[in-house]
Amino acid sequence: MRNLLFILLLIGVCLGPVQQNQSGDLTGNWAVRNVNDTEGTVRSTYFNLKQEGGKITGTIRTTQFFYTIKESTGGPEGFTLIAAMPDGRTERRVQYEGKLVGDELRIGRRMRPDAPVTELIAKRAPAGEGVLPARIEPPARHKVAYNGLAKTPPMGWNSWNKFAGRIDDATVRGIADAMATNGMREAGYVYINIDDTWEAGRNATGEIQTNKKFPDMKALADYVHKKGLKLGIYSSPGPNTCAGYEGSYGHEEQDAMTYAKWGIDYLKYDWCGARTLYTDEEMPAIYQKMGDALLKTGRPIVYSLCQYGRFDVWKWGPEVGGNLWRTTGDIRDTWDSMTGIGFRQHELAQYASPGHWNDPDMLEIGNGGMTDIEYKTHMSLWAMLAAPLLAGNDLRQMSTQTLAILTNREVIAVDQDKLGKQGSRVWKSGDQEIWTRQLSRGAMAVAFFNRAKDEARISVKWADIGVPAKRKARDLWLHQNLDVKGDEYSIAVPAHGVVMLRVN
Ligand code: GLA
Repeated sequence: MRNLLFILLLIGVCLGPVQQNQSGDLTGNWAVRNVNDTEGTVRSTYFNLKQEGGKITGTIRTTQFFYTIKESTGGPEGFTLIAAMPDGRTERRVQYEGKLVGDELRIGRRMRPDAPVTELIAKRAPAGEGVLPARIEPPARHKVAYNGLAKTPPMGWNSWNKFAGRIDDATVRGIADAMATNGMREAGYVYINIDDTWEAGRNATGEIQTNKKFPDMKALADYVHKKGLKLGIYSSPGPNTCAGYEGSYGHEEQDAMTYAKWGIDYLKYDWCGARTLYTDEEMPAIYQKMGDALLKTGRPIVYSLCQYGRFDVWKWGPEVGGNLWRTTGDIRDTWDSMTGIGFRQHELAQYASPGHWNDPDMLEIGNGGMTDIEYKTHMSLWAMLAAPLLAGNDLRQMSTQTLAILTNREVIAVDQDKLGKQGSRVWKSGDQEIWTRQLSRGAMAVAFFNRAKDEARISVKWADIGVPAKRKARDLWLHQNLDVKGDEYSIAVPAHGVVMLRVN
């Protein structure tokens, strides 16, 4: 027995190096397959390499990027690749390290020289598989007519912040059940939006297919509609979405018709894979394409642009048919991320109006990364910004505090004010800020924010922040009328907290 083990060990020792030293050629198309059995999907990254002497050239197509190899060292027994792609005015770079082991390419990826390595295994793929589709020239620009929707900022829920890829039909139904019974629907929440990862490929006629997590999108829409709610979906103008699923590239009209057939009421259209084919300057024309396609369906579908605020989207969002447009990168469930985004929206106020909204990204309220005081600040700030209120937590299980924050009708009334004027900062001193928002019928919302780690007192003259004399005020979190007759106002605001008033 011992001898047998020894012999096996010896064979292993001998074979190991033989396999590893086998110096093959790196030339070829190599694919890393990301297989998801729950979905029945495969997403691939392609290394299309050419090895000539000591040099490796070629391209790398990840699920949303397309890099050209700029520098290389080594060969099959160990190589590095530095690849780049244009990214707005700058360049996005990645570094790969790898070696050929048998018939596998073992590859490590670094996004930055100091970042940890992600290990990938690539196998030979048929030549031509995964090539970038031919570029379709952007259409000539024209103005897309307003669809008449989103007269106030959209309210609802979106799957991404909490569930990312772990979203499916049953969960969406559960969320709809919760929204229809917990008071959110009555408070104004209506859209149930499925974000990325619902997609499969296309059938023979090019029609987009859902993956196994969403067996029947039409039935799901019917279910959501029966609850008095609406259903939203997600796609990209590129060949791939951010998470690497099938995008709408070259199928814009067909996809819009499919959404209409399913009963979809809202589309979030996320740039991502489109950057492999188009520049930022071409964004308006590309977004216009889907704007046209949605209108052509004849179904009212809210159009949400998601391109992270690039190329001053607030200046052209309405012209391409957009009802809202993301103004920033992705929010995270932290105080720094939320405030970093929210308080930076100050200069965009002039671009919001009924039907056309700045979107500082979905809510993180109830996801656990902030305190309830911080979540109140989140809700108040978004209301001051006339931002879409898309809850991003698990509505099936949330604390009464979370529900109370999400359904504070007095704060929601500010967000949903018919005048549609976005608020802005009128006063700042260190970590304390006052924002005001003009409301209909001469009313005004005033929010006293304390971004500091300790409680702070904010004292101002009403006249200095543009609040007229002869006023009645109400605290929108305490739900109490206040006596504010004097010329000055002084209020203690908790650490990371807010005091939000409505002044008539
Ligand atoms: C991007 C968007 C997110 C989300 C993901 C999905 O990062 O900004 O909101 O939609 O893609 O892949």
